[in-house]
Amino acid sequence: MKYILTSALLASASFASVVPRAQKVDYTGFKALRVTLPQGSDNVKAQVENLVAHVLNPGQSELDVVVAPKDVEALTALVAGSKVINEDVGAALAEEGEMGVYAVPSESWFTAYHPYADHIQFLRDLQAGYTSNSAIVTVGTSVQGRTLTGIQIWGNGGRGSRPAVIIHGNVHAREWITSMTTEYFAWQLLTKYASDASIKALVDKFDFYITPIVNPDGFLYSQTTDRLWRKNRQTVSGNTCVGRDINRNWPFKWEVTGGASTNPCSETYKGVAAGDAPENRGLVAQVNQLRGSRGISLYLDVHSYGQYILSPYGYQCNLRPENDAQHQSLASRAAAAIRAVSGTQYTFGPSCSTLYATTGSSTDYTDVTGNATYSFTYELRDKGTYGFTLPANQIQPTVRETWAGVVSMLRDA
Ligand SMILES: *[C@@H]1O[C@H](CO)[C@@H](O)[C@H](O)[C@H]1NC(C)=O
Ligand SMILES: [Zn+2]
Repeated sequence: MKYILTSALLASASFASVVPRAQKVDYTGFKALRVTLPQGSDNVKAQVENLVAHVLNPGQSELDVVVAPKDVEALTALVAGSKVINEDVGAALAEEGEMGVYAVPSESWFTAYHPYADHIQFLRDLQAGYTSNSAIVTVGTSVQGRTLTGIQIWGNGGRGSRPAVIIHGNVHAREWITSMTTEYFAWQLLTKYASDASIKALVDKFDFYITPIVNPDGFLYSQTTDRLWRKNRQTVSGNTCVGRDINRNWPFKWEVTGGASTNPCSETYKGVAAGDAPENRGLVAQVNQLRGSRGISLYLDVHSYGQYILSPYGYQCNLRPENDAQHQSLASRAAAAIRAVSGTQYTFGPSCSTLYATTGSSTDYTDVTGNATYSFTYELRDKGTYGFTLPANQIQPTVRETWAGVVSMLRDA
């Protein structure tokens, strides 16, 4: 990955008389490929990781990758099979549209992507309209000192009186649709509370903690410098690669092998020690505090892409929570609710056996250590065509269908 960045920088440097310090990575002509690795291929996998600009979907036998035009041939020679899923990642990026112009919270927020500062302002302005049943909360602090800003929403029981629903968005920086979607949840809960009895019932039933961007440094970096950045922005002593994968850093089964990387250059670098990402410490503290007070009914970690609803566990493919049947029932009904809105097909099941192994993941932690009744990871649209760079005209359809799935879960939980 660092090789590609360097060559992209050099290429543009030769044309520009003044080189800005933070040149934005240009993905014009880069291709997204779905490659099949040869059997027993740890070595090939490492070579692929070195060659490509980004691994998008960190799977085991199949990987979605973004690769520079000059490296396509070398990549296809290395792998067992490959299929083009996007001919021009740069062109797909253009379909994300211009950043939205923000004035006040409204439905039009959900028609464009937005700069980080506007996300925070949107949440503050939304809260300011509903001061009697919401509050801005700080969940922790990032590597670079930004707060992890969330909103707490409660109903007729009063603040902090009901079982908690915790929702995290944008832990992976490039998954922009996930902050839009989790903001839509907060928007729906607050704006419909007074007028929609079915929403009121949900707000009165739970105490919501929604943090749309739990990785602010990474998110900003994905806006200023590299649209496809995933991790946080933490440095590693003695290594030039940056970033820990916050969703491989949770202090539960962190030490288990096979579900994260020990290589600081990898997209799934787990860190030096369990919970050594500051963002992770904030999230862990939130979960622990709510476990110890009201208890956690439902935890949702919202990611993209792939259209999955995943239940524990990630670290062990044969293990299930004792209420696995109920997890599958909630997931199945949520998937049906999503399909009923738009026809979008979701796959559901335990995360390791359905998608791939993960260690130190949020939902394993919330299920076991957090004692949450239900824990799910959502992987939103799409299935790879646009991947993380979903066009602006898919934001509203995505947030609306996902909300239908989440409402279904909130009713069932
Ligand atoms: C876990 O949560 C359940 C409620 O879902 C509660 O009955 C139980 O006491 C909790 N266990 C611990 C160890 O906190
Ligand atoms: Zn993710």
